Amino acid sequence: MMMPRALLSALALAAICCTLPAPVAAKETGHVSQTKAADAAHVRARALIAQMTLAEKAGQLSQAFAVPFLPPVDDAVASGRLGSLLFVSDPARINQLQKLALEKSRLGIPLLFGFDVVHGLRTIFPVPLGMAASFDPALVEQAQAAAAAEARASGIHWSFAPMVDIARDPRWGRMVEGSGEDPHLGSEMAAAQVRGLQGPAIGTAGRVIAGPKHFLGYGAAPGGRDYEPVSLSDAEIRNVYLPPFTAAIRAGAGNIMSAYMDINQQPAVASKWLLDDLLRGELGFDGFVVSDANGVQNQIAQHFAVDEADAAQRALMAGNDMEMALGPNAFARLPALVEQGKLPVAVLDRAVERVLVAKLRMGLFEHPYVDEGVAARVLADPAHRDLAQRTAERSLVLLQNRGNALPLQPGAAKRVALIGPLADSVADTLGPWVFVPNKAETVTIARGISERLAGMATVDVQPGVQLLRAIPSGLEAFGPKTTPLTAEERQARFEAAVAAARAADQIVLVLGEAQSQSAERASASDLKLPGDQLRLLDAVLATGKPVVLVLLAGRPLDISALVDRIPAVLMAWYPGTRGGTAVARALFGDVNPGGKLPVTWPRSVGQVPIHYARSLTHTPDRADSLYHDAPSTPLFAFGHGLSYTSFRIDPPALDRPVLARGGHVTLTTRVTNTGSRAGDEVVQLYIHQRAGRAMRPARELKAFQRVSLAPGESREISFRIDAAMLSYWNANDRRTILDHGQFDLWVGNSAEAASHVMLAVE
Ligand code: NOJ
Repeated sequence: MMMPRALLSALALAAICCTLPAPVAAKETGHVSQTKAADAAHVRARALIAQMTLAEKAGQLSQAFAVPFLPPVDDAVASGRLGSLLFVSDPARINQLQKLALEKSRLGIPLLFGFDVVHGLRTIFPVPLGMAASFDPALVEQAQAAAAAEARASGIHWSFAPMVDIARDPRWGRMVEGSGEDPHLGSEMAAAQVRGLQGPAIGTAGRVIAGPKHFLGYGAAPGGRDYEPVSLSDAEIRNVYLPPFTAAIRAGAGNIMSAYMDINQQPAVASKWLLDDLLRGELGFDGFVVSDANGVQNQIAQHFAVDEADAAQRALMAGNDMEMALGPNAFARLPALVEQGKLPVAVLDRAVERVLVAKLRMGLFEHPYVDEGVAARVLADPAHRDLAQRTAERSLVLLQNRGNALPLQPGAAKRVALIGPLADSVADTLGPWVFVPNKAETVTIARGISERLAGMATVDVQPGVQLLRAIPSGLEAFGPKTTPLTAEERQARFEAAVAAARAADQIVLVLGEAQSQSAERASASDLKLPGDQLRLLDAVLATGKPVVLVLLAGRPLDISALVDRIPAVLMAWYPGTRGGTAVARALFGDVNPGGKLPVTWPRSVGQVPIHYARSLTHTPDRADSLYHDAPSTPLFAFGHGLSYTSFRIDPPALDRPVLARGGHVTLTTRVTNTGSRAGDEVVQLYIHQRAGRAMRPARELKAFQRVSLAPGESREISFRIDAAMLSYWNANDRRTILDHGQFDLWVGNSAEAASHVMLAVE
């Protein structure tokens, strides 16, 4: 006969609390110390583990999608075969499933609910690449805190975010989900997002567990092809791809998601070196690792594991604690593996302990249910929408503005034609990785401009063309649907746009890529404007009317064919719930764009992968002529972004010309708004090591500061330069070192900054 769950729990807790050895000390992660709480959680977790059957242990390590188009999970929850679910966001359904776990499963262990809250849940913030363009980590932290509040109020405990993969090839669709190409900017944004999502400690009220992903090197996909095997040198791993994860872990991230692909021929999900030695051993990560969806089983398709049992054994042994799966979990094989002597039970227990500790730290044993009455209020919090607008405004990058074509003067043009397939599309204003937004409150660019010009001008909105993927992603079930137009409908749509352009005094084109052409399984072989957009552009330009261009996209696109023909280009990424308001305010000068590119913008797909922090060659003077048929320089540099005003950044000065061992020097510069409008500048510091034990990149961003200045206002900016800033991981020494010698330091407003000073390191 089975004992009642509550009694069983209490007995075991009482017995084990007295007999357990001293609990494992929590590792120092640099954030608020959780040692005491962690100890208590470990004690309680072990007490529970002592009562668990092997099947129940495997259940705690198994996560399933709870979505209407997959088999129901209810029975598996009730029988303790699942410990975590993903993709549920309805509080009532979350409580219903939680009740099954608590009341029907033998031990009544609460479920942990995860969700891809990548840039918001109901209130959608700009996509992460756009947020990175704000160069404003404090704001991004606030945005993710609001996203976390909405998630937690809905019953979600954990977000599969931030995505902190460095991406240097815009063919890779997932560039949109991260912070771009740069390890320093990526690290600042990674830490900010973890702080925002998770708060100062796991279990903070109104926050969720943050799960930085994908560990490690996913962004180095060759050819930009999603999921492809990745080969990276140790130096690239340590100096480029690892730093954002290190920053996220220092900020306290409670979870890490392992990557799909293999890195240097080991599937990341089964790499002991990655998950055990590097992540836990060196980085001191003390949370739990989840696989990507079906990542454990994929080892069979990757011809690494022979079968499900082998795949489960390899992942768990390597340190991948939980399996996310779309179908039956391979981790259901774990009990048999233990029984057959192929898997030490201690390895199983170690993983279960990590998962239970996360649940305990989140307070789920005390407060397993979500208050269904609260969610609606938090999700509708107008402060979140205001924050989404501010974040969108600060993410906008003014790529070019010849002849001060922008800002437009409201009412100066009486007939505005707003043309393009993305101008009035809710889904494409919000971007990818959006599942339960409030569509009605989403402000498209059409709505934003119409509201801004109400009573001053007519706005004729014409899509002109339809954007469709050529090849389905297979992920359509998760996203909005688009019905293809007939040939006649396409023709009529095109003609209506051209007619509107002819009748207008001012044209605003909104072009780019649809959200379905961005993110996972959305790699592109070409970066030109997809579909019929170039033909539309030609037809619109042929009217001779003044045109400005707004781009919506999750990556830099090849706009070489049009930048000489359109004076002003505003990059708006996918700007989110209040994106249209933000874009309209920027177009009409209510706000002044101040974002900067978090990625190098290539001229054509032939230049990619491209990034500014490359090493010098033996012919550095020929670096601008690497191709015989096109320039080697990008169209726009990393860090570039214009403003409606102008700035002067004074030459940098050092308080000392030599950095002594253990000391620091201070670099000072002054930035002045020399124009007639208030605006923001991002002062950027780049370094380069002249000679040493490795060839270091020609430039590396090491610090930045975004400042808002009134016309004529001036601000002194200082950056602290110390050994940590100038050090790097050296492949010969197998550790982080600081070389003696000469360092170049530049300050400016892009990776092409020219103001320079030398620093000697003793
Ligand atoms: C696959 C993606 O790679 C990952 O980033 C995401 O969190 C999971 N699916 C769950 O949606």
